[in-house]
Amino acid sequence: MLPTNPKKILLQVTGSIASFKAVALCSKLVQAGYDLEVVLSEGAEAFVGAASFEGFTRKKVHRGIFDEGSMMSHIDLERWADLILVYPATAHTLSSLALGQSNTLITSIFLAHEFKKPFWVAPAMNQAMYRHPATQHHVAQLKNWGVRILDPDPGKMACGEEGTGRLIEPEAMLEKIKKEFSNAKFQKSDTTRPKILVTSGGTLEPIDSVRSITNFSTGETGYTVALKLASEGFDVTLLQARHSHFQNPAPGLKIQTYQTTSDFSNQVEQALSNENYHYLIHAAAVADYRVDSVVDGKIQSSKVLTLRLKPNAKVIQQVRGWSKNKNLKVISFKLTAGRGNNRKFETYDSEWIIHNDLKDISEKAHAGKIYARTPKGKYQAMTSFKTKAELSNSVLKLIQNEPKGTQL
Ligand SMILES: Cc1cc2nc3c(=O)[nH]c(=O)nc-3n(C[C@H](O)[C@H](O)[C@H](O)COP(=O)(O)O)c2cc1C
Repeated sequence: MLPTNPKKILLQVTGSIASFKAVALCSKLVQAGYDLEVVLSEGAEAFVGAASFEGFTRKKVHRGIFDEGSMMSHIDLERWADLILVYPATAHTLSSLALGQSNTLITSIFLAHEFKKPFWVAPAMNQAMYRHPATQHHVAQLKNWGVRILDPDPGKMACGEEGTGRLIEPEAMLEKIKKEFSNAKFQKSDTTRPKILVTSGGTLEPIDSVRSITNFSTGETGYTVALKLASEGFDVTLLQARHSHFQNPAPGLKIQTYQTTSDFSNQVEQALSNENYHYLIHAAAVADYRVDSVVDGKIQSSKVLTLRLKPNAKVIQQVRGWSKNKNLKVISFKLTAGRGNNRKFETYDSEWIIHNDLKDISEKAHAGKIYARTPKGKYQAMTSFKTKAELSNSVLKLIQNEPKGTQL
């Protein structure tokens, strides 16, 4: 039986030798009960044409921005869909999307995309075209913006060469779409989804009206964890530094920014006291010290300057007092710098502590351990991780394994 309230998929097809697979996917999606709108690029029309798509969907396909009677289709189609897909995506379309062009219906739809819903792109091309730095650059750019890239398969290509660039098969694509819609995010209503506040990045401490001191935090760890949880359907708010390197929107991820430590502290207090958060994941690097007397105006830059620093109140020690939800679960981060550095876990009052040491962190690696608090108040190592992606998966599991009903 077909669903009464089918999920809506915008299938966009571009001009590849693999475009015929989009016809098979279209057929499978219609049979599986999805509601489809189809957009064809000029290239796709050269390969497959509209007839099959119109036959399967019983709807006219969309072609250009200036199609008669559908002048606003680049906005309307984006708003209509639950999931937007480019299948297959040519090198040409990947580059146009990554450059933010809007001269075709497909590129205009992407520019109208607000990152509130999944936008998926399935590349298909010759292996050298796919490995080309230009293509890889565009793929990385799209990923960075929160677009999901469906990696092409390795194997023999239409041109006779071997390598990676084959379009993901329609059957595999259908499975991924089904999985996406069976995901927690489409099942749970907003009131039952666990609410998570993730903090990231480094706080600033003003020296005078124009200068500040800060730390080296990029905000990547908190962003990666927040992105993972949002993609799994949790209601995630990311409070990140205004100067964070990772500012990209993603479906389901609400982003707020802070600048100074006091701004950060106020925003955490506001968020926790106004709303029922279930989890706080505190990855922000909060300045331990502030400048004793901040100068109003601009300090002259020609003289030697001595700054006196005073310790800041620890935000992590105040969060339970601020929280409206008295069962708030706290996951905090502790960075140490080598042996002999006191870990002082007990002062954190957190259910879990994620510990890294500076020696285990590099551009590629981000190793550490997750500790859980025992009923006696001690911390016991429960799992280790080697990368930010592994850490994010562990945090996800940890939240998923929490007994239901203990969160509020
Ligand atoms: C026979 C043939 C096969 C092609 N296959 C591909 C392909 O698999 N991937 C790709 O990126 N481009 C492929 N192209 C080139 C694209 O069709 C071309 O770049 C076109 O401008 C893409 O436009 P579109 O992305 O707007 O559809 C092929 C061209 C021809 C003639």
